[in-house]
Amino acid sequence: MDYQLLAEQVLSVTNNVKNNITNFANASALLFNTLPDINWAGFYTANGDVLELGPFQGKVACTLIPKGKGVCGTAFALGKTIVVPNVHEFKGHIACDSDSNSEIVIPVIVNGTIIAVLDIDSTKFDRFSEDDITGLELFVKSLANSLV
Ligand code: SME
Repeated sequence: MDYQLLAEQVLSVTNNVKNNITNFANASALLFNTLPDINWAGFYTANGDVLELGPFQGKVACTLIPKGKGVCGTAFALGKTIVVPNVHEFKGHIACDSDSNSEIVIPVIVNGTIIAVLDIDSTKFDRFSEDDITGLELFVKSLANSLV
């Protein structure tokens, strides 16, 4: 996977766009249509201690996730990337699409505050490698340049 190119693409589509919804929408479309073997890619945005469903691509998903709950809420609470090779073994995993078997969640940080998390699901077990983690963290950093 050419994550350098993907980072350049997200920089390009978000350049000079000052609306977070617009940028999250294009970022999720970019990921969903580029990454192989994924069934959901999107954002939950932070509102106080709750994550609210934001722009995404994939099946209908749960709308509210409290801080500390599920994979998304855990990444939000800890402020770090969480990779789950087998979601069925993650205590408290929130199953939105029963086809999902592995997942990665990366906090989106703007000016030191977590404003959202990026969530990507796969039907494959152990879908996300070290390479994917580094590449997707670069993607999120590149996207964050244009977020307010
Ligand atoms: N599985 C997530 C919930 C969001 S969906 O995967 C889109 C979680 O446990 O936080």
